[in-house]
Amino acid sequence: MSITDTKPRPEDLRSVIVNVFRFDPATTDEPHYDSYKVPMTGSMTVLDLLFYLLEHEDGSLAFRYACREAICGSCALYVNGTYRLACKTQLKDLKAEEISISPLPHLKVIKDLVVDMDPFWEKYERIRPYLINDEAPPEKEFIQSAADRLKMDDMVDCILCGACHSSCPQVWTDEEYLGPAALLKLNRFTVDTRDRGNKERTKLFDNEQGVWRCHTIFNCVEACPKSINQTYSIQHLKRRAVARRLGMK
Ligand code: SF4
Ligand code: FES
Repeated sequence: MSITDTKPRPEDLRSVIVNVFRFDPATTDEPHYDSYKVPMTGSMTVLDLLFYLLEHEDGSLAFRYACREAICGSCALYVNGTYRLACKTQLKDLKAEEISISPLPHLKVIKDLVVDMDPFWEKYERIRPYLINDEAPPEKEFIQSAADRLKMDDMVDCILCGACHSSCPQVWTDEEYLGPAALLKLNRFTVDTRDRGNKERTKLFDNEQGVWRCHTIFNCVEACPKSINQTYSIQHLKRRAVARRLGMK
């Protein structure tokens, strides 16, 4: 098949049963799953599937998306028991005859697959996610060596999808805990050679609602659709906090 030939191959045509979480708190107290039989083609993604349902089954189905390229992080969902980006996940890779689609667990549902991300953004805001540097700017730009840039390599890949936040038992039980995504971003700035905000950022992570709340369960690492190791960042911040307390930094 050529790249311009969009006609599905006969072997690609089969149907799949999809169970989609439905809940409208404005009209009912109880969530439920609606089941649909959907024709699927070889390259169909979970997001394509949701659009299919929107167009052919129920125009009121609510879900989030923006970039459709695994960049914006807005389409994170819980699919067949695993955190996934809907736009990046092809149905064939799920290797399942039946697919269950739910919103990010442990977050308040606004409608269907849309959850309230405000608590997540509030924690992100708390870590001051921008360079703090009141030195006079250089004539051209702040130079950063390739080796220094490499130190924050996987951290800058975080697309703030919220999957790790949703997967963390400490987030479920302590609403003040910063959570893995905010701590990862905090570490991103502590290792950035252009940043001078370490003193104020240390106060944010060296406390009970910061790194010491993490019990190294690794749920966040497993949940991340970008394969980022948030636990490594949290351990790095813990070492930094201890070194500071011992007067080593
Ligand atoms: S670290 Fe991974 S799971 Fe967590 S918000 Fe960033 S991209 Fe999503
Ligand atoms: S729509 Fe942007 S990450 Fe999926």
